[in-house]
Amino acid sequence: MKVFLDSVGLTEIGAAVHRRCVAGVTTNPTFLQEEARGRPLAHLRRIVEVLRPHGLPLMVQVMTTEPCEMLHQAEEIRSALDYPGLVVKVPCGWAELEVIAELDRQGITVNGTACMTAMQALMAAAAGARYVTLFYGKMSDTDIDAATVVQDVAQGLRGAPRRCELLVASIRRTYDVHECLRRGAHGVTVTNRLLTALCEHPKTVEAVRGFAASFMPLDSVALRPR
Ligand code: E4P
Repeated sequence: MKVFLDSVGLTEIGAAVHRRCVAGVTTNPTFLQEEARGRPLAHLRRIVEVLRPHGLPLMVQVMTTEPCEMLHQAEEIRSALDYPGLVVKVPCGWAELEVIAELDRQGITVNGTACMTAMQALMAAAAGARYVTLFYGKMSDTDIDAATVVQDVAQGLRGAPRRCELLVASIRRTYDVHECLRRGAHGVTVTNRLLTALCEHPKTVEAVRGFAASFMPLDSVALRPR
């Protein structure tokens, strides 16, 4: 299962990419409003420069609810970033399916995002989305069994005529990431806090503390051939 970083922070994106532990970066309007100082495309260009040498996907959401405007924005983002790894995020809905289909016809890679049901995700995939995103935490907030929906979509996509990957966002606990893995998600996108938490465990720290009592200097000088 792939792990994406859900962030617009240049330092944390650089650190994750350098460690090779992420498959790409997802962004959203809320993050950009906090970080981009009113110049989202300029900030996204800086992220692209971090990702470009690695060719990793960058997912960028349209910032309008008007379908025609979504198409214009997608083209504007595409031409401003000039990056083959760009994926345009379009929230799922009836009117938005037309946007997804049209962007696919234009050769723009789409992520059908903000899905709360299995059918929303499967319809977005049918329209031409290369990725679909379920919002795990927001689904759980409304008593939806998010893990089962992940499993349903993963299974539904197996029979789809075109390849579409299921990503899961709005994840708040490491436990939920493991649940997504078990239920067949192709990827999750997590905040930097969760990403680092996924790479660590208190029992690992405890185990290393035990080994540390036996640490000794390496005998490399004595072994060096004369
Ligand atoms: C997707 O872009 C984000 O991961 C999502 O909006 C975050 O959702 P949350 O606020 O429920 O964590």
